[in-house]
Amino acid sequence: MSKIHVTELVLRDGHQSLIATRMRTEDMLPICAKLDDIGFWSIEAWGGATFDACVRFLKEDPWERLTKLRKALPNSQINMLLRGQNLLGYRHYSDDVVHAFVQKSADNGVDVFRVFDALNDVRNLREAIKAVKKVKKHAIGTLSYTTSPVHDINYFVAMAKQLEEIGADSIGIKDMASLLTPTAAGDLVEALKSAVSLPIHVHSHATSGFASIALMKAVENGASIIDTCNSSFAEGASHPSTESMVAALQGTQYDTGIDLAKLQEITAYFREVRKKYWQYESEFTGVDTRVLVNQVPGGMISNLSNQLKEQGALDKMDAVLAEIPRVREDLGFPPLVTPTSQIVGTQAVLNVMTGARYKSVTNEVKNYLLGQYGKSPAPVNAKVKQLAVGDGEVITCRPADLLEPEMTKLQVESERIAKSEEDVLTYAMFPDIGQTFLQERNAGSLKPEALQSKETIHTAAARFAPNEFNVTLHGETFHIKLTGSGYVGEEKRPFYVSVDGIAEEVIVETLDEIEVGSGSNGEKSSGKKKTSLTSSARPRPHHAGCVTTAMPGSIVAVKVKVGDKVKAGDGVLVIEAMKMENEIQTSTTGTVVAVHVAKGDNVTPDESLLEVQPE
Ligand code: CO
Repeated sequence: MSKIHVTELVLRDGHQSLIATRMRTEDMLPICAKLDDIGFWSIEAWGGATFDACVRFLKEDPWERLTKLRKALPNSQINMLLRGQNLLGYRHYSDDVVHAFVQKSADNGVDVFRVFDALNDVRNLREAIKAVKKVKKHAIGTLSYTTSPVHDINYFVAMAKQLEEIGADSIGIKDMASLLTPTAAGDLVEALKSAVSLPIHVHSHATSGFASIALMKAVENGASIIDTCNSSFAEGASHPSTESMVAALQGTQYDTGIDLAKLQEITAYFREVRKKYWQYESEFTGVDTRVLVNQVPGGMISNLSNQLKEQGALDKMDAVLAEIPRVREDLGFPPLVTPTSQIVGTQAVLNVMTGARYKSVTNEVKNYLLGQYGKSPAPVNAKVKQLAVGDGEVITCRPADLLEPEMTKLQVESERIAKSEEDVLTYAMFPDIGQTFLQERNAGSLKPEALQSKETIHTAAARFAPNEFNVTLHGETFHIKLTGSGYVGEEKRPFYVSVDGIAEEVIVETLDEIEVGSGSNGEKSSGKKKTSLTSSARPRPHHAGCVTTAMPGSIVAVKVKVGDKVKAGDGVLVIEAMKMENEIQTSTTGTVVAVHVAKGDNVTPDESLLEVQPE
């Protein structure tokens, strides 16, 4: 009897895939006793996106969430997702940071580390797996599953053997994009079972609709652990439902031993919880077979659609999904998972929004092409590389070999704001938002992003309806269309409007907001609303030397000042958009005559960010 173990994903991957990782700790804790009682092999609860969302949006300390969950789940193994040498951040960390991070994660409650690398470069997994073994925890050496001319069974078997050699306790197949067909799952698990002597886990997203069949095939061919999600947050971009898989295996030689009836209360609980987060539901929640063509993972689709929606460019979604496989091929077929999913996704968005492929190239793509993320699975497109980085030197060693130990430096940098080593690591993972978070926490001024009640939306809609209208000012008529807005509750809330077809951002500063009751007995409309409307003071582009951005974002660096001489192609600004940094170049050779932006400014297309006077 080969009992099948189950990892429950509702506290991490489920809400990451379906509601943009927004579930709050307060909605997890009340049900933990019940989850703890089920007998899951592990409960996945922590990872890069949950950490990021805690710090960026929810204003919760992610370490505190972990310790609270640890206490609330005394009998369960807590599982986390770790991006190898990137840990939970977006760059490679030195080995001493990797060890410190794994140590603190274990101290605060993680038992199982699912360690993966976006490029499947085993050199990037080695140190993290070593660190997990050092703290005597379970390391899942993970294969980031994808399909391409180079990703065949031999490729993954060779990788699994290497992972076994460096000390992994089990092998995970991570099918983030839902590409693992039932036949491929059976064949791959069978091949792995005969090549390595470790248990095999399967983690397969349900986006394309066949993940539960794939899990079944994997189980029949020797997989020991399946990842599933409570049905309240299952299917679509998430995972096969726990209850369905438990029922499907019940009474067979693969019985999970889990009591189906006991799961019902958990399901009822999370069904209610999910309603609270309705504003984050993606447009793409059902089966989406486009993934079989474009290989875009579930989490990436919901993020891209949220981001395009905020830019009022949701109509570009199909063009972006079509561009992604082309960019991926240019980069040597990296699997699409964090951070390569963002790297490829953002470049694809840029290629579509600028209307010219690689006219603008993100810094991350440049670094990727220089080998700084590791070895690409297949050679990169030489033309694209030449265009993006010219003759820049490509490194061939493990990227982290070039890094000096950096814990001490990080401790010094965060000295004023960090009260513990956990804080130092938060700062290390997310230098900008981490610093803001710690400062606000220390000052007692943390304020989570507001949740919209359905009532708020109605009120707001009534206030701004209709969203397309004409305004006549001093005899001149403007055609206005509201294309998107920031979140209700933000003090300075951006509204994206088009004025006679030209995109504008209007910042609405809330001086006094009408409170809308959240319950059924909602007391509403207490107080009156006063708003001040400030439009960006930046001019529209009015000559060829005006530098603009293709995507809304915030200025990270201004690299030139008035009077500087620049050449066409020189990087003059760095903008952060969609979590990626993108260098903006001037297309004009000449002298900088005006700079309209400063670090931290939010900018939109159709604004002149700086001006170059041609020679
Ligand atoms: Co996943």
